[in-house]
Amino acid sequence: MKNIVLTGFMASGKTEVGKAAAKLCDYTLIDTDDMVIETENKDINTIFAENGESYFRNAETAAVKRAAKTEKAIISTGGGVVLRRENIEFLRSTGIVYYLAPDFDTIASRIEKAAQTRPLMKGQSIDEIKRRFEDRIPFYENCDVKIVISPTDTPEDIAKKILTEHGIIERK
Ligand code: S3P
Repeated sequence: MKNIVLTGFMASGKTEVGKAAAKLCDYTLIDTDDMVIETENKDINTIFAENGESYFRNAETAAVKRAAKTEKAIISTGGGVVLRRENIEFLRSTGIVYYLAPDFDTIASRIEKAAQTRPLMKGQSIDEIKRRFEDRIPFYENCDVKIVISPTDTPEDIAKKILTEHGIIERK
């Protein structure tokens, strides 16, 4: 069975959906941001502030390469993983790449909390965040399976959709 790779914009629910999905099957949950935090021994805000974004992107690619080698894994990725084609190629070599697609209003309702741990949201206006969201859409659309998320969907609802799509839960 191929891995389940979760992509999508910041605060689209990848981490929560990954956790919910891991409870419903016997796949191992991996988070590429957590891998970077562990290898660098500092949080994402500190990496961006001290080393810059391109350093983070290189560390992220190294994490992606390691993550893609794992078997039977749910791999939750950082929202910018789609920016490098090689990341998606690695992830796709062993997994199906799902795109979690809530609308921008759902993201906007989470910004205040999300900005605390996300340097690319901190200090940004809602228009700037929306512009980044829109610029990223073509990259996400290039993933394998789009999972449209409605505002009332719980992480468990979305996890079930993905596991059904993946063939782990039987389609009714
Ligand atoms: C980023 C998303 C973040 C994290 C970093 C950069 C991005 O992950 O990797 O702050 O460029 O979209 P989440 O999508 O989990 O917030």
